[in-house]
Amino acid sequence: MTRTRLRQAKTDRQPIAMLTAYDAGFARVAAAAGVDAFLVGDSLGMVVQGQRDTLAVTVEDVAYHAAMVRRGVGEALVVADMPFLSDATVERALDAAGVLMGEGGADMVKLEGGAEKAGIVRALTDSGVPVCGHVGLLPQRVRKLGGYRVQGREAADARRILEDAQALVAAGIDLLVVECVPSELGRALAEAVDVPVIGIGAGADTDGQVLVMHDMLGLTEKPPRFVRDFLADGGSIHGAFAAFVEAVRARRFPTAEESF
Ligand code: KIV
Ligand code: NA
Repeated sequence: MTRTRLRQAKTDRQPIAMLTAYDAGFARVAAAAGVDAFLVGDSLGMVVQGQRDTLAVTVEDVAYHAAMVRRGVGEALVVADMPFLSDATVERALDAAGVLMGEGGADMVKLEGGAEKAGIVRALTDSGVPVCGHVGLLPQRVRKLGGYRVQGREAADARRILEDAQALVAAGIDLLVVECVPSELGRALAEAVDVPVIGIGAGADTDGQVLVMHDMLGLTEKPPRFVRDFLADGGSIHGAFAAFVEAVRARRFPTAEESF
């Protein structure tokens, strides 16, 4: 899927199935199974490098994995995460995006944060860098938050997340990820903005779903509530990816039990 096709999928109300990927082998099979878009997430720090959070991941790390994913998926959309603080200033963000799109071959970069990041997002989009926003739970702030928790349960927090999304859209994002929020807020976000909203732990009413590949293949020790083991359903790696795509398209994933 290209950026325009993603937008069209939202208009057509066809849910978008997105997965993280870190290498060519798995990404190729996932693309063949119908996965629409790929995220080279800084979750690679945890699931590939074995670190306790995502903070030590570097721009070079993400570019290294993005280049492999790019080779595996052909023309499919590849989004690469901007690592912790690589988006702290306009200059650093432009440099990082250059590496992720240049050697990494990414089509789009994703950065965490709301209205406070609008200036950085605007500088990127003005320079021709397609940007995906990321609101709700922000894993890069885990050491400040003190843990991974559902965000936007209080009305004031939900309103702030909605305003953040709108500020990012005004700054030019093409796609938005929302992580770990109540289902009602996931739905409200998808209704409030015209860019596709991809949820993880955000209920079934967003415009699409994204999961960490290792989580949905049952490799994670204590998976969060919003994870389903699709390998158990699908019977093989290819089958797991196909089952994920099918469940997302039919809005049979996530269920209420897999949501907040
Ligand atoms: O790094 C990652 O895998 C992500 C997803 C959880 C959205 O940012
Ligand atoms: Na990430």
